[in-house]
Amino acid sequence: MSDFKRTLVTCALPYANGPVHIGHLAGVYVPADIYVRYLRMRGNDVLFVCGSDEHGVPITIKAKKLGCTPQDVVDKYHGIIKQAFSDFGIKFDIYSRTSSATHRETASEFFKKLHDDGKFIEKESEQYYDEEAGSFLADRYIVGTCPKCGAEGAYGDQCEKCGSTLSPDELINPHSAISGSQPVKRATKHWYLPLDQYESWLSEWILDGHKEWKVNVYGQCKSWIDGGLQPRAVSRDLDWGVPVPVEGGEGKVLYVWFDAPIGYISNTKELLPNDWEKWWKSEDTKLVHFIGKDNIVFHCIVFPAMLKAYGDGYILPENVPANEFLNLEGDKISTSKNWAVWLHEYLQEFPSQQDILRYVLCANAPETKDNDFTWKDFQTRNNSELVAIFGNFVNRAVVLTHKYFCGVVPQNLKPEDIDSETLAQIPQIKKDLEYYIENYKFREALKEAMNLARLGNKYLTDTEPWKVAKSDMDRTASILYTSLQICANLAIAFAPFLPFSTEKLNRILNVEQLPWDLFATEDILKSGHSLNPAELLFAKIEDEQVQFQIDKLNATKAENKQNEEKANINEEPALAPAKEECTFDDFMKLDIRTATVLEAERVPKTDKLLKLTIDTGLDQRTIVSGIAEYYTPEEMVGKQICILANLQPRKIRGIESKGMILMAKQEDGKMRVVSPEERLLNGSTVG
Ligand code: MF3
Ligand code: ZN
Repeated sequence: MSDFKRTLVTCALPYANGPVHIGHLAGVYVPADIYVRYLRMRGNDVLFVCGSDEHGVPITIKAKKLGCTPQDVVDKYHGIIKQAFSDFGIKFDIYSRTSSATHRETASEFFKKLHDDGKFIEKESEQYYDEEAGSFLADRYIVGTCPKCGAEGAYGDQCEKCGSTLSPDELINPHSAISGSQPVKRATKHWYLPLDQYESWLSEWILDGHKEWKVNVYGQCKSWIDGGLQPRAVSRDLDWGVPVPVEGGEGKVLYVWFDAPIGYISNTKELLPNDWEKWWKSEDTKLVHFIGKDNIVFHCIVFPAMLKAYGDGYILPENVPANEFLNLEGDKISTSKNWAVWLHEYLQEFPSQQDILRYVLCANAPETKDNDFTWKDFQTRNNSELVAIFGNFVNRAVVLTHKYFCGVVPQNLKPEDIDSETLAQIPQIKKDLEYYIENYKFREALKEAMNLARLGNKYLTDTEPWKVAKSDMDRTASILYTSLQICANLAIAFAPFLPFSTEKLNRILNVEQLPWDLFATEDILKSGHSLNPAELLFAKIEDEQVQFQIDKLNATKAENKQNEEKANINEEPALAPAKEECTFDDFMKLDIRTATVLEAERVPKTDKLLKLTIDTGLDQRTIVSGIAEYYTPEEMVGKQICILANLQPRKIRGIESKGMILMAKQEDGKMRVVSPEERLLNGSTVG
């Protein structure tokens, strides 16, 4: 273990613009909770801090969509998110919110000090502005085509498709997410944190000093630093957020990525008004940020640069174990497409079964690469690991103890080699498990815990106490004594991972939570200790339950597809490419005039052609036109149209056609005649 006196663990503050789903849990909150529970069991002084991120464009966009205020949005989701975490046993010391008074003051003061200390650059620049909506288009308010991957709908700050960080100016064909209109550029002043000035310091601190960081995290930092850091704006022209507290800041707020990480500090302060500084300003504190990969740059580069700029003894993160993303049934989890397993829904459908999800999400955590959650895998891991190995072992040991020894831990009357050989494997399991957790390899750590259950299961299968009991009660006593010691070890090993099941197991074993120090020691459960009746630790997941979930997702998929098709129909078709430049003289050659249709009839044996007799003011003439698909003869009679009068005559189906009707053609093929706005004299020239 490290030399630090205490550990401050933070989890990314989720945006309060929607409920949380399995992706959040797998990437950030389950691993962090495991880490914290483990440290606590080992007697470490730990503080576990989180809260809702309630500012920024994600919130105001949601409010607009729901037709309510941003405050309504955050009030609603803050409650839902907080409840979901608590339901899943994610045990924060504080879960507060960035709309709190403490946060507003803390973030405001932070900005003010950096400003007054001259740590910012002030700069006026041209930024996108929506004239219809009357507002600047920061971050997600501007959308367009991603310059990196070509995806539509990339945001001004990020492309969700390829994960690239973007700036509004990089977007191709930018348009406003508020009104859909084409934005214009307008000058506006903002404050910038000159990250370029921190480049060599960051390089030394991370690239030289933290080579132990996860490969994905280190790699992203390296590519940012190698690519050259730029000053970053820390204010925005928005009306939702912490107001900019300095002169010239009217109508502007702090950039959400400036204020949100300060939320870690504010929330600590809120919990410990008199004692918060030792968590943030003492070299004895180990600071660890748990986040998803899209947050790496903010936690490894921007926030540390802010803390460094502020000075005053603020510590920097010792590690930032960021995870990759979890997909769902092969597709990217998406809130807007409802492609997710929502925690509150899961709990309704699998009441009291939080630990299965915690188990599956940890066993399959996207630690080194994106991973896939499937309901089939969920079922298999539950049925063939939790139920068949862990649950089955504990149940057999406890039921047999009740059967043969009235539920009392028997004496170790007749030990054999297999007993000590089995127990002798536990210290190594413990050691590996500790190593993995301390190095943020939670999947591997969980595997070790399950290996311990495997060991127990195998031991029972090899020793067969139910057979031995027919002839040798002393030997049966030893086997069950040994099995129960393994059960006790399991109640320690699984405690960080599966808090609900461990609680159940403790109840069955009739013990308070056993301390980590007892892990791999002898004689944890003493002979004569009474057990409580057996309960099943885990229940089987049936095929129908899984099918129900899969059907639900399929329905979502079908619905999305329908919506997409609808959207495609409504979508404006692409326009024909622009033509080459023509000269004024070229244009003047065209004799375009108004004319009225006198007669119209179909050209026999064709679908497309109408033969029109028209009055051009100059003459009456015949034009054959391919408009029968769009107009009936009756519709055409009496219409005033425009024609190209001096087009060389040509024969169409044996009829001489003199001129051409002007029509507007959409790329989807739809055509309408071009008519003057009001009836004019036939023969009026157009140009
Ligand atoms: N709300 C951000 C997200 O969901 C995370 C903010 S983390 C903090 O991606 F450090 F800024 F708080
Ligand atoms: Zn992209």
